[in-house]
Parts: sequence; C-alpha cells; structure tokens
Amino acid sequence: MTAEITPLIAGNWKMNGTTAALGEVQKLAGLLAAGGGPRCTVVICPPATLLERLNELAAPAGIVSGGQDCHTATSGAHTGDISAQMLADAGAQYVIVGHSERRTNHGETDALVQQKAVAAHAAGLVPIICVGETEAERDAGNAVSIVIGQLERSVPDDWSGHEVVIAYEPVWAIGTGRTPTAADIVEMHDAIRGQLEGRFGARGSSTRILYGGSMKPSNASEILRIGNVNGGLVGGASLLANDFHAIISAV
Ligand code: PGA
Repeated sequence: MTAEITPLIAGNWKMNGTTAALGEVQKLAGLLAAGGGPRCTVVICPPATLLERLNELAAPAGIVSGGQDCHTATSGAHTGDISAQMLADAGAQYVIVGHSERRTNHGETDALVQQKAVAAHAAGLVPIICVGETEAERDAGNAVSIVIGQLERSVPDDWSGHEVVIAYEPVWAIGTGRTPTAADIVEMHDAIRGQLEGRFGARGSSTRILYGGSMKPSNASEILRIGNVNGGLVGGASLLANDFHAIISAV
C-alpha cells in the first residue's frame, strides 16, 4: 500500500441484514476495541434501514457508515429511491455509487454514476465510485481500457474541496471466490493511479483506490500489500465480524 495514504476498508452488506445483523457490528466493535482501535478507516454500508442503529453501535468503535446508492436529486417523486441528503441525515459519511450490481440490474450508466457522485458531494458524503470489467472484456484483453474509460466518465471533473474513493471491482470476481492475479491487480491499480494523476494532479496521487471482489481473510494481506491498493471493498466477508475484523487487521 502507499505509505502516506490512510487505508480504507469498506463493508458492502448489499441487500443483507435485519436487526439481528447488528449483533455482528457489536461484536466487531468489541474486537476492534480489544486491539486498540482500527489502524485504517473502517466503513460499513448496511441497508439504509439499519443506518441509524448501526451508527449508535459503530461510532464509539471508530467505525463510520455509508449508503449503497443514492439518487441524483435531493428529494422529489422518485418512489423507492433515497437521496444523499437522507443518507447524511441518517449519519452516513460515505456512499457507494456505480456498483456493478446497480449498473447491471438498474442500467446505470457512467454519466448517471457521475451525477450521483456530484449529489453525494453536495450532501457532504464521500462517494466510493466503482469501476470494473466483465470476464468477456478481460478475456478480450480490454480490461484496462474499459476500466479507464469508466473512470473518465464516472468521476466528476470538479471535486475540489471534496474527496472521492475509487473501487476497482472486476465484475467476474464479485461473489465468485475468484480474484485476479497480483500482477493483474498491480497493472490495473497502476493504470487507475496514472489516470487520476494525469487528470487531477496531486489529488489524484492521494486518492484512495480500493480493490473489491472476493476479498477475504485468506487473501487480504496479499492484496493489501500491493502498491496502489489503498484498501478494500468487501461484500460477503463483511457480514461476519470475525472475517471482517481479520481483513481490517490485515492492513
Ligand atoms: P464480494 O463483493 O466481496 O462478496 O465479492 C464485493 C462487492 O460487491 O463489493
């Protein structure tokens, strides 16, 4: 990892978790406290229904929360959607935008993802902007160009005064137990860093670039050791306190 950047480990619970799941947060808080607190930024993105109650348990342990998506508007006739303001009002500090499940299941485009990132900033949230290639795109040798294209179109041009986090998540690695080789992660994260630095200068050098896709206790330290990997976006393994704690401890 890059020494001067504070790493970030984010848990994406997806559509998992009712009140009972808060027991895992309590357990994680205890594990972190016993170890003297986390040495990195720890974010949990639960279903929005749990945000406020999760914050009560998580905040004393130095864990912050985030949403999993937001609308581009602050309010209005958008049944079933949630705005960045609402997430902030519920105590969130981050929001995932452009996750591949949103891109696939809801037809989200890079342009929409960029608008969501702008809405997140307007609400004082840090967007975690997700990019990643499909297996067919990787097999065709296009992984880097696809991801760099997504990055160019999904990250707002102007985010001075704000922060963005990038999450590289190969679509074929999400929830499958498969991960890219270390060499492939190096190549992709270096390419992302290069694009960010070329476009945003020093801010691009300090932007956190997370790896996501089947990160688990058994592979976390190898992945987190890679130069331009500044943390992880963790799905399945963030649901259990012991597993998530092991990944946080691998930083
Ligand atoms: P996974 O999910 O860790 O379960 O592969 C990662 C993600 O979708 O963010």
